[in-house]
Amino acid sequence: MDKQLTPEKIMQTGMAFWPAKTLLCAVEMGLFTELAQGPKNLDSLRERVGLHPRAARDFLDALVALGFLNREGDRYSNTPDTDLFLDRTKLSYIGGILEMANRRLYPIWNNLTEALRTGAPQNECKNGGADLFETLYADPTGLNEFLSAMTGVSHAANTVIAQSFPWQGYHTFVDVGTAQGDLAVQIALANPHLRGLGFDRPEVGPIFQQYTEITGVADQVAFMPGDFFKEDLPKADVVLMGHILHDWDLPTKKMLIRKAFDAIPSGGALIVYESIIDDDRSKNAFGLMMSLNMLIETPGGFDYTGADCTGWMKEAGFSAAHVEQLVGPDSMVIGIK
Ligand SMILES: C[S@@+](CC[C@H](N)C(=O)[O-])C[C@H]1O[C@@H](n2cnc3c(N)ncnc32)[C@H](O)[C@@H]1O
Repeated sequence: MDKQLTPEKIMQTGMAFWPAKTLLCAVEMGLFTELAQGPKNLDSLRERVGLHPRAARDFLDALVALGFLNREGDRYSNTPDTDLFLDRTKLSYIGGILEMANRRLYPIWNNLTEALRTGAPQNECKNGGADLFETLYADPTGLNEFLSAMTGVSHAANTVIAQSFPWQGYHTFVDVGTAQGDLAVQIALANPHLRGLGFDRPEVGPIFQQYTEITGVADQVAFMPGDFFKEDLPKADVVLMGHILHDWDLPTKKMLIRKAFDAIPSGGALIVYESIIDDDRSKNAFGLMMSLNMLIETPGGFDYTGADCTGWMKEAGFSAAHVEQLVGPDSMVIGIK
């Protein structure tokens, strides 16, 4: 007999902005950071976070029902995962990406239909103007928010790359478009024999420097300011590019892969990682929607499959290239020169 059809999945996805926005507001208001100091009852939490009496109970209980808060008696507390990942005072905080999702992505995704019809970005660059990074970085809030958002979205994959790649065969690495530097930091922490560089636009330097100091790897990794459109990449045994290629159109993707090829010695490796789309383009929904995000954010960027990327690497001269799954929707493509 045919399975009974229900509209459940359609409704859940169509209304997914309700739970998303409830969680994003809780992050914006610092709710989990407040509760990381200890459980609180309704009135004290309401006052500390600044919630209107009409809204507080429903908001907090919705977060309980969604699984982001616990409630015992009249006291609310963080769940183990919200306490670890959404307390701003911890180094494990990944809320940067959620803060950016709330402040920038949520409003610009409201124009998805326009992007789908016109193919044009819907963000700060909508009415023409400079490159996205130049526009974002012109404002210190935008700069800080974006770089910390990158750590939030990349941290889980960064720790896997730091542990799973055969680093013992290499001495040096350069992380191209390093942002706050979390990938370089995780590699350094897991592999004390390595020395690395974080390569990025000069505005990023002070934030990278601060992050490598608080994580205790400033003697292992250094910042190199540069522009990958104008300059060659620094030489190293391994070049990494996390969430870089998807920002750009095909000729730029190929140019960056070629520059990586030129920067490494024979036997060296290029590691490209992001939410690489499955070759059949039917399973990695996050990767496919990330590509829609690139439609909204950039003039020519798009995400791509593992087969696309291994093909571009071979075309650039790499002798071998393969895909390895990392965590969640993320995979890395490794090219060997
Ligand atoms: C999407 S972020 C990725 C950050 C990080 N690799 C990650 O995976 O979390 C892209 C990075 O590329 C850097 N970038 C953009 N244009 C650049 C350029 N022309 N030269 C060097 N870096 C650039 C940005 O500053 C930003 O840090």
